Amino acid sequence: MRIPQEKLEEIAQANDIIDVISSYTPVKKRGKAFLALCPFHPDKHPSLNISQEKQVYHCFSCKASGNVYRFVQEYEKITFFEAAEKLAIRAGIELNLKQTSPDISNEISRLFEMNKITAKFFNNNLNNLNESEEDFIYGYLIKRNIKNQTTIKFGIGYANKEWDSLTNHFKEENVFTHDELEKGGLLVKSDKDKEKYYDRFRGRLMFPIFNENDKVVGFGGRKLYEDDPGGKYINSPETKIYNKSKILYGLNFAKESIRTQDFVILVEGYMDVIALSQAGITNVVASSGTSLTEEQVKLVSRYSKNVVIIFDADLAGIKAAKRGIEIILEAGLELSVVSLPEGEDPDSLINKKGKEEIQKLLNNKKSIINFISSLYEKENKMSTVDDKTEFIKETISYVSRIPNKIKRAFYIKELSSLYNLYESDLRDELNIAVSKYRKETFPKSSVVIPRKKSLKDIRSGKQPSQEEMDLIEIFIKGDEESISYLENNLETSFIKNILILKITEIFLDEYMNEGRIAVSKVLNNIEDEEVISLITKATLDKHELSVYDKSKNNLIGTPRKNTIDYLKYAKDIIKKFKINELEEEIRVLGKDETKINKIIEIKKQINELSKP
Ligand code: GTP
Ligand code: MN
Repeated sequence: MRIPQEKLEEIAQANDIIDVISSYTPVKKRGKAFLALCPFHPDKHPSLNISQEKQVYHCFSCKASGNVYRFVQEYEKITFFEAAEKLAIRAGIELNLKQTSPDISNEISRLFEMNKITAKFFNNNLNNLNESEEDFIYGYLIKRNIKNQTTIKFGIGYANKEWDSLTNHFKEENVFTHDELEKGGLLVKSDKDKEKYYDRFRGRLMFPIFNENDKVVGFGGRKLYEDDPGGKYINSPETKIYNKSKILYGLNFAKESIRTQDFVILVEGYMDVIALSQAGITNVVASSGTSLTEEQVKLVSRYSKNVVIIFDADLAGIKAAKRGIEIILEAGLELSVVSLPEGEDPDSLINKKGKEEIQKLLNNKKSIINFISSLYEKENKMSTVDDKTEFIKETISYVSRIPNKIKRAFYIKELSSLYNLYESDLRDELNIAVSKYRKETFPKSSVVIPRKKSLKDIRSGKQPSQEEMDLIEIFIKGDEESISYLENNLETSFIKNILILKITEIFLDEYMNEGRIAVSKVLNNIEDEEVISLITKATLDKHELSVYDKSKNNLIGTPRKNTIDYLKYAKDIIKKFKINELEEEIRVLGKDETKINKIIEIKKQINELSKP
């Protein structure tokens, strides 16, 4: 469900960020600034800075940052939507989604309803089995060790072998058209007779797939009968309420336990989630049906930043799971791995050896380095120099995905001491891997700034320069004239920091579409935490104070607005960027004596630019 942008703005305007944060933690006013003890990390001195003017917060210590929605979302650990609902209620604003988007909301609530009816129908079938089915189905449940309580908790059901069981059930209800049910993924249109519909799921054990809020959005159906020509599992197709890449099976049951235990166990199958949960290991989810996606990782990272993957592991397995591992690392999450004995999955292992066996494996979980090296060793691929080199390269390619530089450094240290290699060599290799990775991912993003030079010389990974931070500050605080000047004069090649480039792109986009840049609103559409943090930092940075201080020549008190000539500021920055580029050019030419005339020429240009 999507709340329209105008509604979000209305709600935000009615919920002053100072008032809202004050209701969670005491806020003190210091001059123009508002300060509070940061609730997102253990904080002794108030390091949460809040700007009433810009309606954003930023913690200078733990970098927690965002607008009013994000504060409520993070504090309460709820979804964006739930935060918006809460704030709407707080301000007495009616969300009234039906009125603003009647047909979508209608269609969606109907989809939820038909899935709910279907889940109840399948579940109820277990109590109405005919004689021939009874022994077989109960026999299967017993063989798989699925307890009655578990059937109830996970809403497990049975779709019988008839072609029209569910179809007829809905006929009786007479609320949904066949066409609707087909769009909902529950019925299938006959190829031969276009008027005819039949049940999608037949003769299968049914697992309802829930979204985070316990609503059934689809089904996974496991094959039961030998003569069933279909695959082991048939899943619902994607619908308006079921987006496979955004659903994690079991998250609705697991989220509390993931939060309290502060780690999540990631497994492959429905049955693995169910078996672990039944055994009392409840912080478990599966990406069932798809390989792990960024959205799924984002979803679960709201509850914990620690992920344990359970693999039935061999080198082929890890190659298959490679993208999933990369996604977890790229999200900055802490990853460890449990590998299972060959041929086992968590469900089969628990049923053979009991919960203690899994617990033991969980206690001995491995770091990604240990895990990969043990696989190489197990497959005898650690003896030759070539093998070892391949192992190191593979490991470093994973490390290169970790956004945090310091963390990467720790991994490099570990590798160097484990394998007795020079840290500097490993670091060189890492740098190559990092830039390769950045090249792979970066060109995807479209840049709206007029592009004169290519992006090849982006010095990513560097801290933003002062000019770059100043640039962001102008976007946030500058007047129309200064931003328009930037829009006309900024070149992508000026910006060396990848995050700043992203932010510039977002701001210019907003400026072109809206004619102004409202920081708090822009933040609603950004998910990258580093980007949010950089923006709020530029909004609240002490750097701002130092500029104000200089112009006011005064340390205390509220600086008057517009004491800064932002247009001049923008012009100075563009000049500075140009000078930087020319100096870079000189550095490149510097080694070549035949280019002396060219160098003199460039130096003249720099002098020209440097004139006040
Ligand atoms: P059991 O064999 O009953 O123990 O199921 P499992 O959950 O252990 O399945 P498995 O490990 O074979 O596969 C893991 C997950 O991949 C399943 O839970 C399904 O989500 C998915 N999957 C497996 N087989 C199929 C298939 O044939 N079709 C589809 N669409 N998905 C499948
Ligand atoms: Mn299994």
